[in-house]
Amino acid sequence: MTITRRSLLAGLTSGLLATRFPGLALAADEDGVFDLVAGPSKQRLFTQDAPASDLWTYNGAAPGPEIRVKKGERVRVRFTNRLEEPTSIHWHGIRIDNAMDGVSGLTQDPVEPGGSFVYDFVAPDAGSYWYHAHNRSWNQVARGLYGPLIVDETEPLFDRAHDLTLVLGNWLTVNGENRPATVLVRGETYRLRLINAANARVLAIDPNRFGAQVIGFDGQLFAEPVTLEYAPLMLGPAQRVDLIVTAETGFEIEELSGDTPYPMAAFAVSGENIRAGAFALHPEVNALPEPDLGSARRVRLDMTGGAMGGMGDIVYQGRRLKGSEMMTARQAWAFNGVANLAGEPLFAASAGETIVLETVNRTAWVHAMHVHGHHFRVLSRSGSTVDEGRPWRDTFLIGPDQTTEIAFVADNPGKWLLHCHMLEHAAAGMNTWFTVG
Ligand code: C2O
Ligand code: CU
Repeated sequence: MTITRRSLLAGLTSGLLATRFPGLALAADEDGVFDLVAGPSKQRLFTQDAPASDLWTYNGAAPGPEIRVKKGERVRVRFTNRLEEPTSIHWHGIRIDNAMDGVSGLTQDPVEPGGSFVYDFVAPDAGSYWYHAHNRSWNQVARGLYGPLIVDETEPLFDRAHDLTLVLGNWLTVNGENRPATVLVRGETYRLRLINAANARVLAIDPNRFGAQVIGFDGQLFAEPVTLEYAPLMLGPAQRVDLIVTAETGFEIEELSGDTPYPMAAFAVSGENIRAGAFALHPEVNALPEPDLGSARRVRLDMTGGAMGGMGDIVYQGRRLKGSEMMTARQAWAFNGVANLAGEPLFAASAGETIVLETVNRTAWVHAMHVHGHHFRVLSRSGSTVDEGRPWRDTFLIGPDQTTEIAFVADNPGKWLLHCHMLEHAAAGMNTWFTVG
């Protein structure tokens, strides 16, 4: 650590900035129902004297309030739409009842302006999740309609003061603030939940730079904390990573994809150096259905399109489009030659069937593919050893010309989306669906 950074952090300890660590969880009403209201609001995104931006938010702030429940608990959210356009809420990463998945036009009618809807579901798995708008998401999420959804373990691993949620947004803000600073107690261990809520930005983060270990991806904890052997960790749109860090000295979490590291959040430490001895973590791992690779059905997904994609014609709403028609229809990407939701599902799985999805990225871009309603294991990624150990995820990154195989048990009945979570890509074609019967 350089002198400059150390003195900077020393400065932070004295003039502590207001932060929202630990995030205040949204209180439920006496019936146990959470209230979420989507509406327009103004927020200063960078400094307190910056002009306020016009946002669309849940309960007046971006990110929206932290919803915190216990594993296995019933979650009820009374949602009211005070926007001027229809919307719905998706509970990203939750293996949810299909009717509550919040996808406008697929699992529910959008909630009209002035309307309301009660989301009522069980959160079966502990972990770090999030919620966001799922109608015209490329616009609604970009304007601020997202927030954290944290499902505590039956016995939480950390108390609330040591369990910090960092929602990383489009403007490289953290919890809606530009480079928030917080003070940790020296020698104590903290859990950091990083949620990438940006529309399209892949964040490059190196946990080794601040002595953190990875304890899970996309809500699913590993059996043991892992020290990454590669760097940086690429956190794609919609992905989450849970870290643990023991606060020895001050540190910053930086985004490393640019020429110079961009500081996102600063942590200072205070107090005597009393190491409480080695920290032992025994996470309760969620019981997800294990894919049966021997009997799996293989499905292939070809991704094409984009500026350098040389895509040729695509089918959109049942019709073959020629080059200029694609522009008019604002469609630029395709899955298996079809832009946007095909009339027929990509596949119809019988309940309990294992699906191996082989995705081939024939575009010149990186994408973040999300499967609704299920977690999957990443089986292989061509040309990469990253993700060894077949981690569970709900969103995977796929680089240009890369082939990735994932496997999951299709055990959640209903209609589920499979789309790129770079939300502009989804709107412009990278969107399909499957059914579980
Ligand atoms: Cu987080 Cu279909 O989305
Ligand atoms: Cu994409």
